[in-house]
Amino acid sequence: MEALFEILKPASEDWALAESLDPERLPAHIAIIMDGNGRWARQRNLPRVAGHRAGVEPVRQTVETCARLGVKYLTLYAFSSENWKRPRTEVDTLWRLLRLYLAKELPLLQRNNIRLVAIGRLDGLPERVQQELGESVEATAANDGLQVNLAINYGGRAEVVDAVNALLAESRARGTLGGLSVSEDDISKRLYTAGAPDPDLLIRTSGEMRISNFLLWQIAYAELYITETLWPDFTRTELLKAILDYQRRDRRFGGLSPAGGKDNPGRHAQPALRVVAR
Ligand code: FPP
Repeated sequence: MEALFEILKPASEDWALAESLDPERLPAHIAIIMDGNGRWARQRNLPRVAGHRAGVEPVRQTVETCARLGVKYLTLYAFSSENWKRPRTEVDTLWRLLRLYLAKELPLLQRNNIRLVAIGRLDGLPERVQQELGESVEATAANDGLQVNLAINYGGRAEVVDAVNALLAESRARGTLGGLSVSEDDISKRLYTAGAPDPDLLIRTSGEMRISNFLLWQIAYAELYITETLWPDFTRTELLKAILDYQRRDRRFGGLSPAGGKDNPGRHAQPALRVVAR
């Protein structure tokens, strides 16, 4: 967390927010649905792609902030399996932006010891994107700081289907298909996010109250933070506020609150779902 103060202005709002965080209770895994690029552009009478372009800087800042804070995993929803329904020009712009980001940000990833991982049905991506993504993933594979999972051509249901099919294939290869019975752990270990803990905090920008097929299995007990802020306007300040809000939650995982005591079991210190006004 000390590394974060190196890039903050003393006495700034971000400094004060960072100081009020409990370094012992940082979320290990933050997941973000980056939404509202189109609306951001429309509000300015700009084409939708201008919103996506403006969405790159918050990605850069969020990644750096999480790395410097000491968050271990950050999963970003960059392109859903349903996003193919958008006009071709918009989809092509998203690939161009992703390739630009990878080319430009590799030094920042390396400098901050960040490992990049791509999750989703990657074989459905354009060849060039697959190749350049693969190169960045390989170049950062030995880094052991923050792991950034970029969800691309990603769908939560497809991920579970792929995990089940992987299990079936393994079982078929072993000749044990007839007696196959499956545990939660068997599925978790075959998800694209295998090895990472489930997200503690799920942030969604632009105020939509939806999960949009994101990490369906993994968010069973994630704390939700939904902000009206559109993704291009999502700043470090807002990220720090989301983490602070998360630290005020009473996480019970279906059990009772240790703070509640036996006469007052399991009251939420804060509502589990918060909508934060801009
Ligand atoms: C949702 O906004 C955003 C996306 C579908 C794409 C996210 C892409 C970026 C943030 C830019 C580049 C990303 C990386 C990783 C470099 P929307 O278009 O659905 O907005 P709307 O709901 O207002 O129309």
